[in-house]
Amino acid sequence: MSNSSQHSEFNNPKIKPLFDQQTIEKRVKELGQQITRDYVGHDLVLICVLKGACIFMSDLIRAIDLPVAIEFIAVSSYGASSKSSGEVRIMKDSDMSLKNKDVLIVEDIVDTGLTLSYLQDMFRRREANSVAVAACFDKPERRLKAVDVAYTGFVIPNAFVVGYGLDYAGRYRNLPFVGILEDLQE
Ligand code: IMP
Ligand code: MG
Repeated sequence: MSNSSQHSEFNNPKIKPLFDQQTIEKRVKELGQQITRDYVGHDLVLICVLKGACIFMSDLIRAIDLPVAIEFIAVSSYGASSKSSGEVRIMKDSDMSLKNKDVLIVEDIVDTGLTLSYLQDMFRRREANSVAVAACFDKPERRLKAVDVAYTGFVIPNAFVVGYGLDYAGRYRNLPFVGILEDLQE
């Protein structure tokens, strides 16, 4: 298989780089250290929202120097569109009892806030001791529902971004950096 730059996914001219790999790595380490300080002595469970948060999650847990449990949930996504349907559906649920646990929801990006506010309510109803959110990216301009995000990697402008787990129609999750996808077909 050839890997000429003409066909490179990593040098796609439609993607305008926003944060490089080193910048993301440094910031995720800082978040991990902050979480480590905040959760000493707690029964911490990190819940990854699939699929987008899988890359952030795997870097974040390795920056947390505490005993942690991990869980995965999947919610309905935008499908092939870049606009939120506003509807949240659980496609795969966590199978661990969250009673008295300190839950940290790990999300790729907060956009309208609909997904996270739904998930926070859901985990609170399961009698978690606490429910907090770590999001790698935040687009506050687009918020429809207020969410308290305890740990934010980067605040970004109102643009559609891909890479570091974030996709457009299932593509670009593997980019080691994050960039703005231009010429979006909506
Ligand atoms: P919310 O419920 O509108 O906050 O949507 C959050 C979800 O929408 C995220 O978990 C992403 O899957 C997706 N999303 C929102 N903005 C973007 C983006 O700029 N790029 C890729 N996915 C996005
Ligand atoms: Mg997502």
